[in-house]
Amino acid sequence: MQQTLIELLDARVCAALAAAGCEGAPAVVAPAGRPEFGDYQANGVMGAAKARKMNPRQLAITVLEHLDLAGIASKVEIAGPGFINITLAPAFLASLAGDALAESRLGVPQPVAQRVVVDYSSPNLAKEMHVGHLRSTIIGDALARVLRFLGHEVVAQNHVGDWGTQFGMLTAYLIEAEQGGEAALALNDLEDFYRRAKLRFDEDPAFATRAREYVVKLQGGDAQVNALWRKFLDISLHHCEAVYEKLGVGLRREDVRGESAYNDDLPAVVADLQAKGLAVESEGAQVVFLDEFKNKEGQPQAYIVQKQDGGYLYSTTDLAAVRYRTGKLKADRVLYVVDARQSLHFQQMFTLSRKAGYASAAMSLEHVGFGVMLGDDGKPFKTRSGGTVKLAELLEEAELRAFALVSEKNPDMAEVERHKIARAVGIGAVKYADLSKNRNSDYVFSWDSMLAFEGNTAPYLQYAYTRIAGVFRRAEGWNEQAPIVLMEEAERQLALALARFAEALQAVSRETMPHFLCAYLYELAGQFMRFYEACPVLKSEGALRDSRLRLCRLTADTLHTGLDLLGIDVLEAM
Ligand code: ARG
Repeated sequence: MQQTLIELLDARVCAALAAAGCEGAPAVVAPAGRPEFGDYQANGVMGAAKARKMNPRQLAITVLEHLDLAGIASKVEIAGPGFINITLAPAFLASLAGDALAESRLGVPQPVAQRVVVDYSSPNLAKEMHVGHLRSTIIGDALARVLRFLGHEVVAQNHVGDWGTQFGMLTAYLIEAEQGGEAALALNDLEDFYRRAKLRFDEDPAFATRAREYVVKLQGGDAQVNALWRKFLDISLHHCEAVYEKLGVGLRREDVRGESAYNDDLPAVVADLQAKGLAVESEGAQVVFLDEFKNKEGQPQAYIVQKQDGGYLYSTTDLAAVRYRTGKLKADRVLYVVDARQSLHFQQMFTLSRKAGYASAAMSLEHVGFGVMLGDDGKPFKTRSGGTVKLAELLEEAELRAFALVSEKNPDMAEVERHKIARAVGIGAVKYADLSKNRNSDYVFSWDSMLAFEGNTAPYLQYAYTRIAGVFRRAEGWNEQAPIVLMEEAERQLALALARFAEALQAVSRETMPHFLCAYLYELAGQFMRFYEACPVLKSEGALRDSRLRLCRLTADTLHTGLDLLGIDVLEAM
């Protein structure tokens, strides 16, 4: 398939509109949403008629006369004031399913390839990763996977926080810990390390002075302090990598390009903004006033790019990063998978980047924001004592809980096997619970609902997959090349759901919304269950049995691929 179903129907309806005298009128094709409207509905006739002062119903009739859907649709009808309802032909859907089975991309067409930078995870290395970084890490990873599958070139960028005054304090404390011979032990727990360093900083003025000197030395390129700083970063990144490994997230060391990587470019950015008349001095700081962003008094808001003391900011670093992503990485599109609370920063930074010419009009800059993870009490997710929840511990708990569930269901299974399943189910549940919600909203983190075997959850989909895998364990001697024939409506509906995989992936890519893929897979699994109830598979015979087994195969492959693209492991049995 060179096009998704929507694209194909859209092109045909557009051609018919043109033939009916409405050249260039959009067809507006979308899934019908209700069975009585067919599979797809084209809504463009009304708009075209209105613009040309025509009778919509009359225009619809003319469009229908020109609409060529031979071999594609089995029924095309006009409904209401001029809707065109399209029902796809079983033979057409059967041929799509056959084509999808014949190639590794499952019939998903390849759009024009772009180079896409995905900025995700990006934790602050001064502390250990906590739940706040979970969403960015898994949403970003799912987007990167989907974009790659569609054929885009993805450049992952882990824009870690590795610069700033905290690092002076941490390196000063690292020296002390090393002198006391306890550095290795202290660094086992970065959270604790940070807390102790901060305590020293607050209580001992001499230490505080040293910490400040270290910041200056670090910035001045002092070799000894730099080596210590690097050592600290290396340890902190090891902690992150342990989490990535557990999560099955593909970020590597090469993908790390932290804030410090842009240091050399920061003076140049500010100088350039000044030269272009964008940055001006205000109370000793370098500030950009953007007319697009006004405060309550109607005055342009200040976007600070250099502090009074000459120090640079998060904003300056991000501007330098845009220059790098345009200039060196030659990106067509940059996705920033970052907490929605940073929305204003990104909108200002994008606007300024365009004004300054750091991002061309053709390069798309998108803030992929997300809401907060909440606890049962509806407040931001915390430990019982009110502390931040470490990611490593949360994931451990997920596996433990899943292990208890699996053991309850399969008490006789070997322990190693139960651990394997618990890992896939526990981690999968945490990831899916996040990915399946509209990322813009806050969501309540609930062990019980994410680990449920019913509903829109990872365990449900993983289980649906193993059920199909089970069918194949019992299906001996069948013809894997047999033609697919769709006799029953439940078969046709399943084939239609399968053919929509490409649409789901393109929607994820276009809107940067992984929950579209989750909703799709959930719908597909439901459609499969309906088919499985209505149409005997193993008990049927001959060509019919082969055809149904092939539908089972494509369903299994699509679920498998879809879950892979969400970064969720699939098991053959559980
Ligand atoms: N380190 C930042 C934080 O933890 C996120 C960085 C996101 N990426 C960016 N280019 N600003 O909030």
